Amino acid sequence: MNARSLPDPPAVVGMPVADVDTPALLVDLDALERNLDALARSLAGAPVRVRPHAKSHKCPEIARRQIARGAVGVCCQKVSEAETLVHHGIGDVFIVNEIVGASKLDRLARLAGEARLGVTVDDEHNIDAVSRAMVAAGTTVDVLVEIDVGLRRCGVEPGPDAVRLARRVADAPNLRFVGLQAYHGRAQHVRRYEDRQASARAAADLTRRTLDLLADAGLQAPVVTGGGTGTYLFDAASGVYNELQPGSYVFMDVDYGLNLDRDDEPVSFFEQSLFVLTTVMSRAMPDRAVVDAGLKSHSVDSGMPRVHGVAGARFTRASDEHGVIELDDPGALSLGEKITLVPGHCDPTVNMHDWLVCVRDNQVEDLWPIAARGASR
Ligand SMILES: Cc1ncc(COP(=O)(O)O)c(C=O)c1O
Repeated sequence: MNARSLPDPPAVVGMPVADVDTPALLVDLDALERNLDALARSLAGAPVRVRPHAKSHKCPEIARRQIARGAVGVCCQKVSEAETLVHHGIGDVFIVNEIVGASKLDRLARLAGEARLGVTVDDEHNIDAVSRAMVAAGTTVDVLVEIDVGLRRCGVEPGPDAVRLARRVADAPNLRFVGLQAYHGRAQHVRRYEDRQASARAAADLTRRTLDLLADAGLQAPVVTGGGTGTYLFDAASGVYNELQPGSYVFMDVDYGLNLDRDDEPVSFFEQSLFVLTTVMSRAMPDRAVVDAGLKSHSVDSGMPRVHGVAGARFTRASDEHGVIELDDPGALSLGEKITLVPGHCDPTVNMHDWLVCVRDNQVEDLWPIAARGASR
């Protein structure tokens, strides 16, 4: 794969945060490290492996830190993400997504010769195509059959359909049937704790029944994977999942901040570590500040960003290069002032930036390339 040449970073190591050019994506290293530690600590002794989802950060530096804290590898969604991760030294990558099309399967098959690689299937023709690609490349890949446990995205119905596909994988040359992908994305953002727990339990029940049928058919499923930041503790306690794929926990975002804990308080187990640094570029109106971070700097698909640490300031509108902040106090925020935004949705926000500007004690400590930024094929 060709190395992507990155534009210059918006900062240099050692500079104060106030001097970082904007818009820039900042990560608070203390908060990031506490999040990484908190996940590892919360699962200590649990009968599960952690395989964090790298789609959230797309950054080999973070993948390495996750593995250093006990993760068995990472997962991702795209062949190009997997290529980037493997070529940056990550040796165990599951693509927990369906890969369709000859050129992608050809790349997948070649990559399977360089690392332990997994892929997800939900169709018998696709199984045959993956197998043919592997045979042609002389490689072998781990295969998970995806079941739809409530997300209504990819995946066959839990039950006999999954067993039929698992049998086909097990019989196909150069494929290793390793188990089930059972990710319930909708459950992650169910706001109330008990409701989220119930959604996760329903997914685990469907998965358990499918595992029973696989066992009846004589098919071993050593990997049962799913779960995200919202449900991973429920999934770990289910007795069904043995691998977990949380992604957003490293950064968090406004949307995840709306989830409630057992006491009906906003979740606080993981901290906000990701911010967009932006400059006030217009103060022409008393009740409005305009900043230089719009739709090309942060994603609003899950809602607007939150203005961090400025009372009475609400980010209400974004256009391509502008963000509009309404102010209660006409004296707040001056032209040229730099402020931080908490992104509405961390994953797509990260994908808009080439560099993570790593900050500690108000200084730039490091610059990490978001190496798989834009890796969407
Ligand atoms: C298949 C899959 N697994 C895991 C995750 C991680 O979820 P989260 O970022 O909510 O932890 C995602 C996120 O979209 C996903 O699509």
